[in-house]
Amino acid sequence: MDAKIVLLPGDGIGPEVTAEAVRVLHAVAQRFGHQFTTSSHLIGGCAIDAHGTALPDDTLAAAKASHAILLGAVGGPKWDSPTAKVRPEQGLLKIRKELGLFANLRPISVVPGLVELSPLKPEIVSGVDILFFRELTGGLYFGESGTRPAKDGSGEESFSTMIYSTGEIERIVRLAAQAARGRRKKVTSVDKANVLEVSRLWRRVFERVMKEEFPDVQSENILVDAAAMYLISRPTSFDVVVTENMFGDILTDEGSMLPGSMGLLPSASLGSSGPGLYEPIHGSAPDIAGQGIANPLATILASAMLLRHSLKLEQEAAAVEAAVHRVLKQGHRTKDLAAKDAPWVKTTAMGDLVIAALGK
Ligand code: IPM
Ligand code: MG
Repeated sequence: MDAKIVLLPGDGIGPEVTAEAVRVLHAVAQRFGHQFTTSSHLIGGCAIDAHGTALPDDTLAAAKASHAILLGAVGGPKWDSPTAKVRPEQGLLKIRKELGLFANLRPISVVPGLVELSPLKPEIVSGVDILFFRELTGGLYFGESGTRPAKDGSGEESFSTMIYSTGEIERIVRLAAQAARGRRKKVTSVDKANVLEVSRLWRRVFERVMKEEFPDVQSENILVDAAAMYLISRPTSFDVVVTENMFGDILTDEGSMLPGSMGLLPSASLGSSGPGLYEPIHGSAPDIAGQGIANPLATILASAMLLRHSLKLEQEAAAVEAAVHRVLKQGHRTKDLAAKDAPWVKTTAMGDLVIAALGK
C-alpha cells in the first residue's frame, strides 16, 4: 500500500526517537512491499521559535491530509516560563482537538520474560495487560478557564472547569467496550462520582451504555483515588479502563511503571474518522536530549500501533512488536532500562537491533 505519514518530531528527545521509528517503518515497507512517504513538520517549542505558534497552519494542514501522524514529544525548559504567552503543549492539545482525536489508547502490558524490568514484585506484575481509553479532547484540559481578581482580596484567583456532555462520554465508552469484546470482556470506568457532579453524569452514562449495548461485557466503577492504589496492588485485575482526560493522564503515567519504564509505552489517539496520531507517552526529556541515549522503543511501538490502527496492517504491526520483544529478551537495554553498572546501547544502536530482529 501507499501511505502518507506526517512526522512531528517536536522537541528534546523527540527527533532522536522519531528518527528510529521512521527507520523501522521504512524497513517494514521494504520487507512487506509498501510505500510510505514521510514529511516532517514543526510542532511545540521548535515551532514557537520558528513561527511564534506551537501549531503552525502548514503542520495542521499536512496532518489533516495524511493517513497517519507520528509525533515525538513537545516542551522543554526554554519555553517553560509561567508567564509565557505561548506554550509547546498548546500545539499538542490543539492538534488533538482539531483532528477530533477523542480516544487515546494506552496499552500497558508486562511482557513475559521482562518482569525483571518492573520496580514491583514479579508476582504482582506478571500477566499485566491493561488497555486504557483516556478521553482526550474534553474535561479539565479543554473546559472554560480564567484568572480574575481574588474574591478574598489576596491577589488573583484562577479556575479551570471539567465539562463532559452525554455524547462525549458515550462515544469513548463505546470504543472501550468494543475493544473489551476482543479481549477479556471487562471494562472499568474510573471517576470521582463521590465528589464531582461531572463524574456522576459520567457514571450514569457509562452504566446505561454498558447495560443497553454491551450486556455481554462485565463492567465496574472505581473511584480515581482507589484506582491509583489498585493499579499498584492488583494491576492484573484490570482489562480495559475508560476514564476522563486528566485522570487518564495521571493514571497512565503511573501505569507506565508496571512494565518498568515510560520508555516502553506507546499511545494512539483516534477520532471517528481521519488520520490517527501516534506518540510515545513519555515527554521530551530535555535533560538527556541530544546525547543519543534516549530509549526509542516507545516510539517504535507507537509506529506499530500506527500500522495497525491507521493503515490496517496487522501482520506488519505484530512483526514490529515481536521484534521489540525479541531484542529485549536477548537482553539489550537502553540506559533507562539497564540495571546499575550493566551495559546498555545508544538510541540508534537500539533502532539497528530492532530492524535486524524484524528480518527474523
Ligand atoms: C500526555 C502529556 C500531555 C497531556 C501534555 C504534554 C500536554 O502529558 O500526552 O500525557 O497531558 O496530554
Ligand atoms: Mg501525560
